[in-house]
Amino acid sequence: MKTIAVTGGKGGVGKTLISVNLAVGLAQTGTRVVLFDADLQLANIDIALDLQPKLNLQHVVAGEATLLEALTPGPSGLNVITGGSAVQGLMNAGPKRMATFFSQLDSLRRSTDVLIFDTGAGVDQRVMTFLRMSEETIIVTTPDPTSVTDAYATAKILWRRDPGAQVSVLCNMTTSPHDGLTVYSTLRAICEKYLDKTPHYLGSVQADMRAMESVRRRQPLLLWYPESPAAQDITRLARGMAGQLRRHAA
Ligand SMILES: Nc1ncnc2c1ncn2[C@@H]1O[C@H](COP(=O)(O)OP(=O)(O)O)[C@@H](O)[C@H]1O
Ligand SMILES: [Mg+2]
Repeated sequence: MKTIAVTGGKGGVGKTLISVNLAVGLAQTGTRVVLFDADLQLANIDIALDLQPKLNLQHVVAGEATLLEALTPGPSGLNVITGGSAVQGLMNAGPKRMATFFSQLDSLRRSTDVLIFDTGAGVDQRVMTFLRMSEETIIVTTPDPTSVTDAYATAKILWRRDPGAQVSVLCNMTTSPHDGLTVYSTLRAICEKYLDKTPHYLGSVQADMRAMESVRRRQPLLLWYPESPAAQDITRLARGMAGQLRRHAA
């Protein structure tokens, strides 16, 4: 099971849109995906996917259900764990309860190829917990310079905590074909200059009105409008990741 955290220094850069649709795109390739709503402030994957889970993280944290029982079937065969705001209580409950909880993630291992954490913005302790548990961290940024600065701040703290962290950059809401690479080159240059680290470039996703509309419709963009430019970008990324996962597993 590969664990991936999707993060970004700022709210509204598209972390949830990317997490949800990457999860759907991966599931469409036959990859067994669990999408974990790890945004403690704004847990909203159930809303994005229009799910009404019977059990969620609240029950797991309270010891009323196991993590496996709290998996809710989502579109395209992916499984979802919702109720990320419950993790807040867990973190306050202290390191021992947390360790017990996170050890439950192991129970997903046998039935899961990839576990995706949709995390909140910022670099506080609780977001970091998820990043440190992940083999790969995808930092979502937009071409907006403040978002790029925030992405750098996230990478810096992550690498400071874990010098071996695998960091990938995804540029969302691009408006020209060069945006993604330009943003990545800028970020890479400052990471190499000040941190002596090189992030990996995952790719870019175009700004697309349909992406916004899909959120209003509470449907993943990939299912509602697969021909839209952003959906095609994400599908391409998901296929690339699925190929890598297969090579990784082989
Ligand atoms: N590629 C895109 N093009 C246009 N709008 C987008 C795109 N990606 C995300 N959005 C919109 O931006 C808003 C914030 O996205 P969201 O995924 O909730 O961000 P975050 O999880 O980072 O806070 C949503 O309304 C979403 O529809
Ligand atoms: Mg979000």
